[in-house]
Amino acid sequence: MKMADIHNKNIQIPMVDLTGQYHRLQPEIDGAMQRVLDLGNYINGAEVKVFSDALAGYLSTGHVIPCGNGTDALQAALMALDLEPGDEVITTTFSFVSTVEVIVLLGLQPVLVDVDPHTYNIDPAKVRNALTERTRVIIPVHLFGQGAAMDEIMEIARELELFVIEDGAQSLGASYQMNGTFQKLGTIGHIGCTSFFPSKNLGCFGDGGACFTHDEYLAERLRMIVNHGSKKKYFNERVGINSRLDTLQAAVLIEKLKHLDDFILRRQKVAELYFDELTNVSELKLPQQSEKAQHTFNQFTVRVRGDLRDGLKDFLAQAGVSSMVYYPVPLHRQPVFAPCCGNNFRLPVSEMLSEEVLSLPMHTEMTEEQQVYIIKNIKKFFKK
Ligand SMILES: Cc1ncc(COP(=O)(O)O)c(C=O)c1O
Repeated sequence: MKMADIHNKNIQIPMVDLTGQYHRLQPEIDGAMQRVLDLGNYINGAEVKVFSDALAGYLSTGHVIPCGNGTDALQAALMALDLEPGDEVITTTFSFVSTVEVIVLLGLQPVLVDVDPHTYNIDPAKVRNALTERTRVIIPVHLFGQGAAMDEIMEIARELELFVIEDGAQSLGASYQMNGTFQKLGTIGHIGCTSFFPSKNLGCFGDGGACFTHDEYLAERLRMIVNHGSKKKYFNERVGINSRLDTLQAAVLIEKLKHLDDFILRRQKVAELYFDELTNVSELKLPQQSEKAQHTFNQFTVRVRGDLRDGLKDFLAQAGVSSMVYYPVPLHRQPVFAPCCGNNFRLPVSEMLSEEVLSLPMHTEMTEEQQVYIIKNIKKFFKK
């Protein structure tokens, strides 16, 4: 792309470029998939265990329990804790729906709290304010690829003997500094959950997910839960779900895991250019990086001053640049959850973020030319 192309109507810059990434890695991925097709072990083939062990090694955790998707991983994690109906689970209101959905599905009480306006992650002070006698679990979501304040959250959990389930659907591969050493997110709480949805840091070619834990007992329970509550075929010990990572997805993930650190570096490089070029655009607030959390930039999400966000989004769309609003309605304002929270319940930071945030194209295949084009158009909009 040349600078002269700036008005070229044929330019299309997507949020993610999954086919570009596939083509770059095609020989190894095709080979891995072909091996599965040749053997025909589509369910629980050898690749599933090979991948789980490789991911456990990468994360330095004791156990990886693969499952069908990130939502199931969260549901299985909650089921493993043997909670009572009405037990309270504190989580963020500014996130994807899955976390709250599974809490409600299991008859638990979601307690939604507000976030930090700079990192968009759950605010530990608000978690403290929300604690009650019935609180049993905290679920921080490491939003957009950056760790929530895990040191403070683990401290609260230790004081009150609560469980912590990390929702790391957007942050696989990221680390967080705990007691002076960096530890992979998802391995700090009692159970970590992730998603291999195609656009995630480590994405497969469909749905996939996993739970991680250091705890042998929880690992055994999780394995049973995702397998119909059964350890031995046709002997069912508890109510479970059917949630498996397909062999074909595991084969893809074995190959892609080898590139995960490189994927993250590529995302960070894209972020660096956005930071360099957009810092002086006064109408934008760029995402703040916490000193303790390594940001993997699953999303590069800016805040656009008040009323200008939708205008910028439309302007970019006309120039062929995709952008997305993650998330336009905080969970406590969603019609399905508002009744659990109280209709007059307000969480002002998240409500403000929902009006201001805009996620820009961010992926492993971005070229500098594409990014220069995106940045030029953002600046052009604010000069109008
Ligand atoms: C924060 C978060 N949690 C959970 C999920 C659910 O993952 P899945 O789509 O694999 O069920 C997602 C997926 O987008 C997510 O972003």
